[in-house]
Amino acid sequence: MELTLGKRLRELPGPILVTGHTGFKGTWLTILLERLNIPVIGLSLQPEKDSLFDRANRTGVIAEEFIDIRDIAAVSKLMSKYQPSAIIHMAAQPLVLESYKTPRDTFETNVMGTVNVLDAAFKTNSVKAVVVITTDKVYRNDNSGRAFMETDPLAGKDPYSASKVGTESVVAAWQQIAKVSSGPKVISVRAGNVIGGGDWAKSRLMPDLIRGFMSGGPIHIRNPLSTRPWQHVLDPLHGYLLALEAVLAGAEFPCLNFGPNGESLTVKEVVEIATAVWPIETVIEFGDESQNNLVEATNLQLDSSNAQTLLGWKPFWSQEDAVIATVRWWKEISNVDSTSAEASLFDINGLLEG
Ligand SMILES: NC(=O)c1ccc[n+]([C@@H]2O[C@H](COP(=O)([O-])OP(=O)(O)OC[C@H]3O[C@@H](n4cnc5c(N)ncnc54)[C@H](O)[C@@H]3O)[C@@H](O)[C@H]2O)c1
Repeated sequence: MELTLGKRLRELPGPILVTGHTGFKGTWLTILLERLNIPVIGLSLQPEKDSLFDRANRTGVIAEEFIDIRDIAAVSKLMSKYQPSAIIHMAAQPLVLESYKTPRDTFETNVMGTVNVLDAAFKTNSVKAVVVITTDKVYRNDNSGRAFMETDPLAGKDPYSASKVGTESVVAAWQQIAKVSSGPKVISVRAGNVIGGGDWAKSRLMPDLIRGFMSGGPIHIRNPLSTRPWQHVLDPLHGYLLALEAVLAGAEFPCLNFGPNGESLTVKEVVEIATAVWPIETVIEFGDESQNNLVEATNLQLDSSNAQTLLGWKPFWSQEDAVIATVRWWKEISNVDSTSAEASLFDINGLLEG
């Protein structure tokens, strides 16, 4: 099958640098890029045990370096060594609850780490475009349930969200630097809670559910009535690649949202869909909503009409299908015949073959 997605990226002289390639989204992205025959290199911290990267035996599969993005000398050295044509920057401390425990580290990685990546990119002539991954949590959230547009005001409530608003400010500054003194195109992309096979992070709904399904132990669920724009991880990744191709082709936009279609599902609805796919006798305890509102925003929706109009992007999975695909992935790898990489390729081929 001829792959139309990624045609422009295959023609670039240098590889795509993916920061955060050992993470959940980074592992899916590098498997997708490989499937599209696009040369890729990775920059991250060492992989975590039981992560998708670890489960899929990804160490050494692509050229990679385990360095800290807070180390500007190491980041610059890597860029001059590999001369990437474009960068997808997703390395970050991405967890809200963790950011309350380590706010300083979160800001250092998410803000100064992005400064380092952009500073090094602007000094490496090979780099033509940088896509910086932020989040739907950058929007000033009044919990009205209104879908946010790219032009809405930004303000982060918790340390993670605030650090990503900082990331957005860094992006805006380097967009201005590019205008004044020329340099790579820089855009930010904002997606919501992604789900999919292999996410094992602490305090995220799907990993918490899967851990409970596998162990049979009780599952504690925070914020049952909160809504999130749940989407399959491949949907925003597909969007990031289309956005990168568009800016390389000369399109002008500073940022884009990539959210799912339809009303966001509540946490409780997601739990019900998942337990229908993996029925198991286990106790599900729902937390006290009033306590949790203090630490995490409760209602989030994104308006992705710009991505649909400018890029022709649209979600491949409905929110319900994304939950089903995630649980199915885990059921498949529980079966010894299917590896994590094979289960991921099944979903990638579903996306590419439509
Ligand atoms: N997973 C989600 O639901 C979600 C939602 C919105 C936005 N995002 C954003 O997407 C990106 C990827 O998220 P994820 O869920 O894959 O996270 P993850 O925790 O699975 O992966 C994080 C990656 O960043 C790397 N990293 C962290 N600190 C680093 C440092 N100091 N130096 C070098 N590398 C470092 C890690 O090694 C890892 O590869 C992040 O920017 C996150 O904020 C994620």
